[in-house]
Amino acid sequence: MASGTNGNGASTNGNGHDEWRDSRLQLSDHCAVVTGGARGIGRATAIALAREGARAIAVVDMSADEVKAFADKANKYFEREVVFPFAGDVTDGEFRRSVFADLESRFGCVSLCVPAAGITRDRLAVRRDKETGALDIYPEELFRRVLDVDLTAPIYWAMQTIASVAKHRESQGLKRWTSAEKIQGVVIFIGSVSSAGNPGQISYATAKAGLEGAEATLGAEAIFHGLRCAIIHPGYTNTAMVRELGEQFIEQAILPNTRLHRLIEPEEIADAICFMIRNAAVSGQLWADAGWRPMA
Ligand SMILES: NC(=O)c1ccc[n+]([C@@H]2O[C@H](COP(=O)([O-])OP(=O)(O)OC[C@H]3O[C@@H](n4cnc5c(N)ncnc54)[C@H](O)[C@@H]3O)[C@@H](O)[C@H]2O)c1
Repeated sequence: MASGTNGNGASTNGNGHDEWRDSRLQLSDHCAVVTGGARGIGRATAIALAREGARAIAVVDMSADEVKAFADKANKYFEREVVFPFAGDVTDGEFRRSVFADLESRFGCVSLCVPAAGITRDRLAVRRDKETGALDIYPEELFRRVLDVDLTAPIYWAMQTIASVAKHRESQGLKRWTSAEKIQGVVIFIGSVSSAGNPGQISYATAKAGLEGAEATLGAEAIFHGLRCAIIHPGYTNTAMVRELGEQFIEQAILPNTRLHRLIEPEEIADAICFMIRNAAVSGQLWADAGWRPMA
């Protein structure tokens, strides 16, 4: 069908949709929370969101000095107060509620959430001592801690975001969201290629696979309030988490199994996260794995 013109004289794509209008989510309307935001993928995501014009970004991480130093640097660079530092443990429910209360009092509601804080505690699930033949299994307290940080906490930060938008819409007398309204918020979980299984990562792989169920469930529920959910599965990315594995391991066990033959840069993952936030057609999973295909 040929293009027509809309009321402003601008051409449409032939089906009534203004092809000149930017249909992406306008970040200037949104306050975001990024956990694990002082370093790595979280930090790159906070910078990318600020660059894309987000109204405010709460950067949450363990060290008060680190989050404050990052916020000062970012606010100076962007020449506006855009990054707000919060120091605490993401598994602490009191802390989480206090961050949201603070942000809601300043910005109305928190509508974007990238819960990126994560840890690894890698070892074989069942280990055999070569000398004695004794077997020991992965310690339960370690398993619980990884699940707390990598699975339970991201889900709770996501649910708190959904509740924040739901409360805000309710205060405006809005009921079930319809597509006549703009998208009201987005949650992007950070999965991993390890969610498909990875030897030595029983706790981490379990947590990351669990996020897929959370994404699918919250995605179906949260659209009632106008929020979308999705999950990105990054491959090996150039952050402290991967550098800790050692250069030799990276060279021999990681790079040969990728198509790019290099680590992904955190900025590349942040760019994919921004795309997932801004494009309402994206739902479910995005694999940003540099062609990770481990040999059996
Ligand atoms: N680097 C990779 O190759 C890779 C690949 C796939 C997924 N991921 C995921 O991306 C996310 C970010 O990882 P990264 O590589 O940037 O790691 P990173 O170690 O560079 O950064 C993680 C940040 O999370 C913070 N953090 C950890 N536990 C916390 C807690 N309890 N409370 C508050 N903050 C906490 C750390 O202080 C750190 O700043 C994680 O969820 C990770 O599992 C990373």
